[in-house]
Amino acid sequence: MSTKSSVLEILENNRGKSISGEYIATELGLSRNMIWRAIKDLRSEGYSIKAITNKGYQLETDNDILSVEGIKPFLSTPDLANNIRVYKTLDSTNKEAKIQAISQETLGSVIISNEQTQGRGRFGRNYYSPADTGLYMSFILKPEALNLAHPTTITAYTAWRVCEAIETLSGLSPSIKWVNDIYLNGKKVAGILTEAIADFETRNISTLIVGIGINVTTKQKMFPREIQNIAGSLYPSGNSTITRNQLAAEIINRMLETAIPKDDIILEQYKKRLFMLNQEITVFQGKNQYKAKAIDLNNRGNLIVQNEQGETQELSSGEISIK
Ligand code: BTN
Repeated sequence: MSTKSSVLEILENNRGKSISGEYIATELGLSRNMIWRAIKDLRSEGYSIKAITNKGYQLETDNDILSVEGIKPFLSTPDLANNIRVYKTLDSTNKEAKIQAISQETLGSVIISNEQTQGRGRFGRNYYSPADTGLYMSFILKPEALNLAHPTTITAYTAWRVCEAIETLSGLSPSIKWVNDIYLNGKKVAGILTEAIADFETRNISTLIVGIGINVTTKQKMFPREIQNIAGSLYPSGNSTITRNQLAAEIINRMLETAIPKDDIILEQYKKRLFMLNQEITVFQGKNQYKAKAIDLNNRGNLIVQNEQGETQELSSGEISIK
């Protein structure tokens, strides 16, 4: 661990409190001068660290820079931190996760970025991923360790757990638009993209990459024109009561739980937050679209709809919009 990282860890563990340079130096077995240099480097990276005479250094509470050191104090077990990699910028955390999953044997690794230059959405769309105001993360998961009856349930699991993490930290009440969009006040605030790496020999899914993008403090006018009416964020005013590090930890704690619940519990929690049941919707499938009513969710997470002719259909993918 570098000096800078060790100093940051101490400051993050004592966020909002003053810690003397002498204490940090003794704790790390380093000189006061080395501590001072690390503080200078951290400041140049954007951390606001106050130096208070006779008291020491204080990491101010409104710092919202993503880092492993900042996530660690909020993890259910500190060991989870060994699985986390945080980047300033990446083209796509899902892409990086795939590269890391293929190049090394990983289980439960988490790739997080402050910004994505080529964030990917479903159906080959771009996912707008500006720096500093969003959380972009991808989990590398092994289907056999998840023990799900249907690997596809992982998306429902993720949607539920992301909602729950937001609810717990912020008191906000997001809901889910089938399949995996998370909405708040009529706007999409988060999206999930699950991708699979298949083993050609066994024809099984060897790895799941679950990507989550959350607009945390992105202001409405910042979204590109084409998504202005759809996209929103948890704190559109830009003033958040939570940090992205806290939110990341809250999601990691849930996603990497050792025993994840059975499919029926997952779908029950997912369905509780689904906002379109009994509503008139438009179903888009490939080039086709038709009007229908959303009736129910089945035990595989498929949406049961009734078309205008009264026939019921089971949707396993595709897109829907509410009238
Ligand atoms: C969608 O709404 O269409 C899904 C959006 C998923 C975006 C996340 S951000 C982290 C991860 N990396 C990506 O490139 N995409 C996913």
